[in-house]
Amino acid sequence: MAKNGMRLSGVRKSYGALDVIHGVDLEVEEGAFVVFVGPSGCGKSTLLRMIAGLEEVTDGEIAIKGRDVTDLDPSERGIAMVFQSYALYPHMSVRDNLGFGLKMARTDASEIEARVKAASAILKIDHLLDRRPGQLSGGQRQRVAIGRAIVRKPEVFLFDEPLSNLDAELRVSMRIEIARLHRELGNTMIYVTHDQTEAMTLADKIVVLKDGRIEQAGSPREVYEDPANSFVAGFIGSPRMNMIEAEWSADGVAKVGDGLIKVDLAQDKLAPGDKVILGMRPEHLIVVAGEDDALRATVDVSEYLGGTRYLYCQTQDGQTLIAEYREEADIQRGDTLYLRCPPERRRYFDREGNRLR
Ligand SMILES: Nc1ncnc2c1ncn2[C@@H]1O[C@H](COP(=O)(O)OP(=O)(O)OP(=O)(O)O)[C@@H](O)[C@H]1O
Ligand SMILES: [Mg+2]
Repeated sequence: MAKNGMRLSGVRKSYGALDVIHGVDLEVEEGAFVVFVGPSGCGKSTLLRMIAGLEEVTDGEIAIKGRDVTDLDPSERGIAMVFQSYALYPHMSVRDNLGFGLKMARTDASEIEARVKAASAILKIDHLLDRRPGQLSGGQRQRVAIGRAIVRKPEVFLFDEPLSNLDAELRVSMRIEIARLHRELGNTMIYVTHDQTEAMTLADKIVVLKDGRIEQAGSPREVYEDPANSFVAGFIGSPRMNMIEAEWSADGVAKVGDGLIKVDLAQDKLAPGDKVILGMRPEHLIVVAGEDDALRATVDVSEYLGGTRYLYCQTQDGQTLIAEYREEADIQRGDTLYLRCPPERRRYFDREGNRLR
């Protein structure tokens, strides 16, 4: 039992006959920063809202600090949630927006003032307390929304895509602010995002969801380097991992077109003629001189990004391969290259997407 953290056991959610969460088990250590990622509609918000108590749990149990909160009112769970839409009261000052929840809970006026002061200092919005939301920038408004959560002194913070309304530059600075906030407050935080960089940089643990199920939960390094299946491998990382279909032949090599790749997998898992998916990240492909243990590929598009270049290539048998290229040599559309991924960087999957080890 996660005495100090949070635990979800067999959590399910159905809307009528529609099952959207299919039995989620998850352990969250006290003080951890957990990030939920997954395609649109996979159930991230539903899961977060069930933790918050905004959505009824169809089956299973949610415990916070060893206490079963499954059927408790949101206000009794010790959580605070920050949404994508800030939902600030437009006619109230920042100060009153921050203190409103506490006032409703009949908190002492001096206590409200102290907490508003402390939260606005942490978020560096103390000079904005007399303004109204309409007189703030997007980033400042988002700070007020986070401040409203902080003043409640929750055990757990829940964030549902809090930065997705902000422009790219502001997202980066707010991301760093949220990392700092987590460090300073030390609370457990659960954070939903579509942003790869936010997930990788903020998380202690990334939870990859698909169709209402957890595909993998692990540290950023684990999900990136040791993906449980081809879905996780393809979802984490940008541009996504190349998945090249190859045909296993008896002698420890697989064929891609006329090219031969050495496959260091136990032979008993594969029979000659079996298809094997070779996963190789764009950043791990190296342009080499010859065809030995490499894939021949023709460049379709060469994207120059300054400092790095993405080469969109076609293999001999017409599969797409993206390579990140950092060398100086000018590579152009139509050029033919040999690309090699070091064996320790290769990940293998069967046709169903299960990892082969
Ligand atoms: N009130 C509802 N009634 C019926 N189905 C719902 C309801 N709310 C959500 N769903 C469905 O539940 C599934 C999960 O939705 P959810 O909002 O949790 O996805 P999400 O992962 O947060 O997606 P996004 O990334 O787009 O925010 C979706 O298929 C959605 O259509
Ligand atoms: Mg959502």
